[in-house]
Amino acid sequence: MRSSTPLLLGALAQGAFSLPGTSSASGGNSSSSSSSVGVHWLGDNTPSYTSGATFGLPWPEGKYFYNSTSFSIAAASGGDTIALDSWVTGYWRDGSIKWTGHAIPALESAAEGGYTVSARRGHGHNNNNNHGGSSKGGLKVQESRGEVRVDTGKISVSFPKSGSALVKSITTKSGGKVVGANGKLVLHTQSAVAEDVASRANTTIDYSNFESKISNVTVTQADGGVRALVTVRGTHAPVSGDHDAWLQFVVRFYLYADSDAVRIVHSVVFDGDASSDFITGLGIRFSVPLAGEELYNRHVRIPGEEGGFLHDAVRGITGLRRDPGEEVRLAQVAGQVLPNISTWDTRVSSRLHWIPAWNDYKLAQLSPDGFTIHKRTQAGQGWITIPGGKRSHGLTYLGGATKGGLAVGLRDFWKKYPTGVEIANAAGDEGQLTVWLYSPEAGPLDLRPFHDGMGEDTYEEQLDALEITYEDYEPGFNTPYGIARTNEVYLYAFDATPDSDELATLSANTNEPPVLVPEPAYIRETKAAGTYWNLPDTSNEKAATLESHLDFLVQFYEGQVETRKWYGFLDYGDYMHTYDPDRHIWRYDVGGYAWDNSELSPDLFLWQYFLRTGREDVYRLAEALTRHTGEVDVYHIGDWKGLGTRHGVQHYADSAKQVRITQPQYRKYFFYLSGGDERVGELLTEALDTDKTYGVLDPQRKVRTDGWTPTPGQPTAISLGTDWAGLAAGWLLEWERRGSRWQEARHKLTQTARGIAALKNGFVTGSGLYAITNGTLGPPPEDPNNEGIVSVSHLSAVFGLPEVLSDLLEYWGTDAPAGLESVWLDYTYYYSASKAEQAARYGSNFGSLNLIQGHSRLTAYWAHHEGNSTVGERAWYEFFNNDDGFLADEPWVAEVVNGSAVLIETEEATWISSNEMAQYGLAAIQNLALVGEELETSPYP
Ligand SMILES: *[C@@H]1O[C@H](CO)[C@@H](O)[C@H](O)[C@H]1NC(C)=O
Ligand SMILES: *[C@@H]1O[C@H](CO)[C@@H](O)[C@H](O)[C@H]1NC(C)=O
Ligand SMILES: *[C@@H]1O[C@H](CO)[C@@H](O)[C@H](O)[C@H]1NC(C)=O
Ligand SMILES: *[C@@H]1O[C@H](CO)[C@@H](O)[C@H](O)[C@H]1NC(C)=O
Ligand SMILES: *[C@@H]1O[C@H](CO)[C@@H](O)[C@H](O)[C@H]1NC(C)=O
Repeated sequence: MRSSTPLLLGALAQGAFSLPGTSSASGGNSSSSSSSVGVHWLGDNTPSYTSGATFGLPWPEGKYFYNSTSFSIAAASGGDTIALDSWVTGYWRDGSIKWTGHAIPALESAAEGGYTVSARRGHGHNNNNNHGGSSKGGLKVQESRGEVRVDTGKISVSFPKSGSALVKSITTKSGGKVVGANGKLVLHTQSAVAEDVASRANTTIDYSNFESKISNVTVTQADGGVRALVTVRGTHAPVSGDHDAWLQFVVRFYLYADSDAVRIVHSVVFDGDASSDFITGLGIRFSVPLAGEELYNRHVRIPGEEGGFLHDAVRGITGLRRDPGEEVRLAQVAGQVLPNISTWDTRVSSRLHWIPAWNDYKLAQLSPDGFTIHKRTQAGQGWITIPGGKRSHGLTYLGGATKGGLAVGLRDFWKKYPTGVEIANAAGDEGQLTVWLYSPEAGPLDLRPFHDGMGEDTYEEQLDALEITYEDYEPGFNTPYGIARTNEVYLYAFDATPDSDELATLSANTNEPPVLVPEPAYIRETKAAGTYWNLPDTSNEKAATLESHLDFLVQFYEGQVETRKWYGFLDYGDYMHTYDPDRHIWRYDVGGYAWDNSELSPDLFLWQYFLRTGREDVYRLAEALTRHTGEVDVYHIGDWKGLGTRHGVQHYADSAKQVRITQPQYRKYFFYLSGGDERVGELLTEALDTDKTYGVLDPQRKVRTDGWTPTPGQPTAISLGTDWAGLAAGWLLEWERRGSRWQEARHKLTQTARGIAALKNGFVTGSGLYAITNGTLGPPPEDPNNEGIVSVSHLSAVFGLPEVLSDLLEYWGTDAPAGLESVWLDYTYYYSASKAEQAARYGSNFGSLNLIQGHSRLTAYWAHHEGNSTVGERAWYEFFNNDDGFLADEPWVAEVVNGSAVLIETEEATWISSNEMAQYGLAAIQNLALVGEELETSPYP
């Protein structure tokens, strides 16, 4: 609820704690007992509204310990401290704090452009929550057997622990009004789809309706009194139709002190059957009590473009043949209580019952480019068309001028089409407001395979088909069973219908929630997000050129998202893999060339590019990618839990199910920067079971000649590149987070790393025999006596392996298993070394390898480690001279294509593929960071 009540200043300082002198942690010497870190709002603008924010901060190794550090925050311009929740999201090996998460309350005017977080140690502070500042947020949490109740100071929300309603009521504090009730998830399905319009007449379809059924509710909070997180798990249970409960969900409610808003993170896992469970509607519905409110005082605000709204009253008194009076008309449009009806022109007041009451509204955003709106007086009557628009921002309000109301908004509303909003029973005692994550106005969500297998029954046939469409097909593997999707929804409570400008501000808050971030230079200095990137380098012309190329690539992809319409319920966030210059379109329909599914690590490129630039557009692009690939491209339940799907026409279609797509390293940067986003944290935890899949599914099954088949629990050969890199990243993250399985994770990490170090040829061996029961890794079955084999793949180091090893070796420091660093350094040196050098070192050369441009960062890593500028120059040679990367003399501009050649006008750059974008980006960033000095002196490009 937003009202003119002054900000609860209870949130501000009351104790004697005073800010230490501001010292940058970098410059600060390690004996100082405190340091201060600046954070600022992402982007150019300071938000005019915040509903509370959570953010992450990195800390240098060895400096702060959980039990003896207290944190506080104040506006950078000075002033009192603000309430702060603090918790640890990651630790260094020595137990010192690596990453913290923090939450600040809603700020009445978020006018401060920046804040200073101070860490203070040796403070004798020893409580469990680590909250050291003297300010306390006003949040109150009460838990009883039946419910959790959270009071933010502005609203009180109750969460039942069982039943169908996730939210029982939302009550405003100042007005004591219940403005939202009975918040449920709703799901509609059908059992079949008619194959064409004519066959609707003879297709039997069963329709089913479901609503949420709670299985578990937990609440967590830090003692700062700033933020509470209520996590509700369950499934959708049938309310009609003959169907089992399905579509498991986890919905997280975030509430902040002094906030009138609730942030909701809604995740579902598809656990149905693609051939008989067609989702036709998926939404969140709230009741809005309206009893006692005159129909002319009830307001509907339907979201249009750019913060615009349709302003309706359930019974409108404007535009009539007779005028009730200007004051009356203007009040209604403004959403205010109308003057007493006795003051109106009686020609209107005596005839109100002839004016239709509009009971129901629906908005459908069925494409990223258009929405339609309809309303009707009641069921059984025709729907009236209301002119719509292009891209609705999605924030919808229903309420009354005296009873108050609720606004609900789905983030990225039009980008996640087909979406919708619906208002029902606005003329009754209890209206309903539904936000559709999948609109019932759209065709059913069809997750069936896009082809019937075309007779690809044997591995031989499947491999032959791979030769032409590049799709790796296998019957039964093209299943969506176990994929997920996450959406963010915001709720806002009001004591009275708000001004539309205020709603517009909230729609901006919903679609681009304010994010607090530290400076890139500070992140880099702590080393907590890796040491393989550095700030943009424009110190010389060659470096500046590379910077401009990186910027071009990011801008090009931003433009492609828009003009190629890479939007949609499942698709938004992802890119296409390869371009078809003949058709001037990405190869959306050609096997393995369509959706990218993190191929060659665009996630790493974008996050590292964000870390160094701090750019808002990059953050939003990377965040959308992380939310997509971590959910849709990956299996979250079942035998393949922890594996993802290779690039393809549908995100889950390809039969190559691999850890390289699940790669936890892809989520790591967002996880820490976001202060430990709990959904992403859950994905990281899921990844700890990835190793079990090796006992069930053999990634090599189509090309294996030795007849071996996997057995659960038995040792399996895993690749030391993509497989181990994915497992190792997950283990390291669990160890850093000190999650519940961190000792198991550290054990497996250490054992496998020792095993790799003990292989005669280290990483060059290519694979090893991994024993899940004790975490050991021995020589591969082809080389039981560890005599040394040479098996190097161009894919090994392009799915996170360099980043994982760099992070890991830093993490271990002097405790790293003996020989691990040396076998990694060898791999980095020899991958692109001459065949003669390879043969001299390993007895045979590595054969013909490609992806030399991306691998130049391995050479750079070696050169940096050894301080060898000759090899540094070699890295730049490889970067600029290779067969399958971007060359220095690429056009580095996109061309406009228009007219009859294309569907719509767009840019194209036929020389760009997403593989090259990702690997060029990573190599440029890392080479600049590691061997930047050699760029200037090198004779290349
Ligand atoms: C903090 O101190 C308590 C009490 O001595 C101890 O049990 C706990 O393990 C410590 N926590 C950390 C993270 O060091
Ligand atoms: C159903 O109707 C369609 C269209 O008229 C027709 O092609 C199809 O054969 C019919 N199917 C059955 C089972 O009758
Ligand atoms: C609810 O979930 C929590 C956390 O996952 C778990 O510890 C607890 O056992 C669950 N409770 C029930 C009743 O399932
Ligand atoms: C680990 O398990 C494997 C497979 O069962 C076994 O061969 C190996 O000897 C075990 N290693 C250790 C150190 O226990
Ligand atoms: C740099 O590395 C190369 C290749 O190993 C070596 O030949 C050369 O001597 C090294 N240069 C220096 C200065 O160490």
